[in-house]
Amino acid sequence: MRTKGGNTAIQKLKKDIDRYLTDYNLSSPLKLILINEFWPVLLFRIEEYVDSREKKNLCQYVINILALLFHPFVNGLSGTKIFRGAQIGEGVLLHGSFGIVVTARAIIGNNCTFFPGAAVIQKANGKKEGAPKIGNNVKLMNGCKIIGAVTIEDNVVVGANAVVLQDIPKGAIAVGIPAVIKKNH
Ligand SMILES: CC(C)(COP(=O)(O)OP(=O)(O)OC[C@H]1O[C@@H](n2cnc3c(N)ncnc32)[C@H](O)[C@@H]1OP(=O)(O)O)[C@@H](O)C(=O)NCCC(=O)NCCS
Repeated sequence: MRTKGGNTAIQKLKKDIDRYLTDYNLSSPLKLILINEFWPVLLFRIEEYVDSREKKNLCQYVINILALLFHPFVNGLSGTKIFRGAQIGEGVLLHGSFGIVVTARAIIGNNCTFFPGAAVIQKANGKKEGAPKIGNNVKLMNGCKIIGAVTIEDNVVVGANAVVLQDIPKGAIAVGIPAVIKKNH
């Protein structure tokens, strides 16, 4: 499972773009401008890039301000909110948008896929109990919610509308409310 560090934001963005190009069968990265589910990823990587610089130059301050100004448009048009400060590995793909939320304290591995309505969020019960940790190659299907300090290991599939409140082991399929492990795949 990936935790912190590793590739830079720009290197991760290249891998994100590769995944989008393959998944959407696009011939050129320029066409990604038409894919609104790519915008939140782009904005997140720009913020990640700016935040990774200890000393910011003028150019990075300007990029930061532009990113802040674009936020309402990207959030509004994609219906997706990836909070600044989340740690997301390379090759992330939002397969559709609307209702996707990633909390600022979430840790997400490489090559994870989000479908519409998938949320990786804190419990918000006032106890500050922590945020989800998600491994590599995890698929979060339509409408699923991963809530609180749970760990989802590599290659898990979280089924449509599942609500995950417990750790899920490697390779499992988790379904239902609260989610239970149905089988390995
Ligand atoms: C999780 C999922 C991938 C599992 O598919 P699968 O491997 O073919 O699994 P099965 O259909 O054989 O189901 C296995 C068991 O899980 C149950 N199950 C499957 N998906 C479920 C779900 N979302 N919620 C509750 N139970 C579910 C089945 O009823 C079955 O239960 P049983 O063993 O008691 O009969 C799939 O059901 C799912 O949720 N897909 C999400 C679809 C989606 O979001 N698509 C996005 C692109 S449009």
